[in-house]
Amino acid sequence: AYIAVGPLAQLDAKKGRYFIDYEMRPALAFKGDDGMPILISAKCTHLGCTVASEVNDQGQILCPCHVSYFDIRTGAPNPGAPAKAPLPHLDWVLMDAAGAVVGRSTEPPAVPASELAACTVYIPKRTTEEA
Ligand code: FES
Repeated sequence: AYIAVGPLAQLDAKKGRYFIDYEMRPALAFKGDDGMPILISAKCTHLGCTVASEVNDQGQILCPCHVSYFDIRTGAPNPGAPAKAPLPHLDWVLMDAAGAVVGRSTEPPAVPASELAACTVYIPKRTTEEA
């Protein structure tokens, strides 16, 4: 019921890790200031190009096709960008080595940060009807 994104310890604040979501769309995983994952769609809301993975000094990722910058925290495009809609975020879960869910995007993790380092990030697999 889950799709693996990668180890939490390998996520980075400035360089996203690409993965493919449950509808075969590209998405990016970053580490937020709180050490938790930020998962955001990488399919530009303008015409669908794949957004680049490097975060600039303003906390934005660039769609190079027609130059839209998206804030990775809010998903919002920059004012005046060709893209008008924000990039949506994806829900995530954290699992420990035994496969137990120890954290979710919707609630604070149940284990200390030191134990989260060994966890793996997943997205819950959903059908189109539920999405
Ligand atoms: Fe991204 Fe046009 S497709 S700015």
